[in-house]
Amino acid sequence: MTSILINVAKKLIPRSGIIKIKKLQAFFTELSLRLWVYSKWTSWLYYSIVSKAFWREQYGVIYGKLKFYENLKLGKDSNFLLRRNIHRLEKGLIMKPRRNIFAITYIENTLNLYEKALAVRDKNGTLELQWAHDVLKQYFSVVGFHPIIDPLKTKFFSFQAINGETQFVPYKRDPSILPPVNYEQFMELSIRRRSVRWYLQKPVPRELIDKAIMAATLSPSACNRQPFEFRIFDDSEMVQKVAAIPMGTAGFHHNFPAIIVVIGKLRAYVSERDRHVIYIDASLASMTFMYALETLGLSSCPINWPDLDPQESQMTSLINLEPDERVVMLISVGYYDPEGMIPYSQKKPLNQIRRYC
Ligand SMILES: Cc1cc2nc3c(=O)[nH]c(=O)nc-3n(C[C@H](O)[C@H](O)[C@H](O)COP(=O)(O)O)c2cc1C
Repeated sequence: MTSILINVAKKLIPRSGIIKIKKLQAFFTELSLRLWVYSKWTSWLYYSIVSKAFWREQYGVIYGKLKFYENLKLGKDSNFLLRRNIHRLEKGLIMKPRRNIFAITYIENTLNLYEKALAVRDKNGTLELQWAHDVLKQYFSVVGFHPIIDPLKTKFFSFQAINGETQFVPYKRDPSILPPVNYEQFMELSIRRRSVRWYLQKPVPRELIDKAIMAATLSPSACNRQPFEFRIFDDSEMVQKVAAIPMGTAGFHHNFPAIIVVIGKLRAYVSERDRHVIYIDASLASMTFMYALETLGLSSCPINWPDLDPQESQMTSLINLEPDERVVMLISVGYYDPEGMIPYSQKKPLNQIRRYC
């Protein structure tokens, strides 16, 4: 209704009038923002009553917290808290000097999570479980005697061991092994990667996408939780439906051979303080993914995800998202069309982007 009124007004009011109205609108918006920004309370009032912009995020965060607790009980598949705690143990193991007693506050909880995961182990969780097993084994082998730790140690060694080919435990790097690519080669790859919007109408082999994702999984992630998923669409009908939803693809999404929706899972966290981590972790992995695509002869374009009601509800129903599964970005993938142009996209010089403090 509002948009119809705006369109009618645009037709009736002369252009100079519209410019004046826009100026007035900007003036009053700024004035009201000065009032709402008066304190944290007034800004809370603004986002509780005037604007619904954060409601969806709040709902997603609280839904994710519930899922976090539910998944703890189930202990199945990938367990985010187990991953986090095992990572914390690894950090304790590599400490210089290593403390005789550490992880007192969370070792019991970690062992319980491990026991639950063992009970429902499946082939997907095997590597994760092996990592947990190997780190726990090393922990219990080096940690000192303590009334909390001693019974847990006995319990751990009563479980069936997981024997992998290699030990998933902290290790020292061999200084004789040099990086396999030098700076110039990496720079060349970085210069070569550009956001490509025009592709050949040629299918993208799934094995290449998988290879790029395998590289993406090696990206850093907070406490190694890896709270994201790459959802890949390469069926042309679905590609079109998915790619048409965000606003930034207008005019060129029809030529995407494949599109990926990068999802962050808020269920990885129990605390609101970590609610931004999905965006950081998923973006770091996405960058690795896009570089890996380049090495495989494929091109890509990251696509902005607008956190707006119509787009959110379309995507949610189209690809079946739960409220805590947040779209971080979309990435189009394909073989670049040599006839398609690429924006120059000048980059900021060093002195504008770095400051030694
Ligand atoms: C988070 C993010 C969102 C983006 N969204 C869009 C988009 O919606 N549409 C588009 O055409 N390009 C999009 N891009 C691509 C940028 O326009 C592009 O990265 C930038 O202009 C620099 O160009 P380059 O990637 O070729 O270096 C996006 C990039 C990022 C990182």
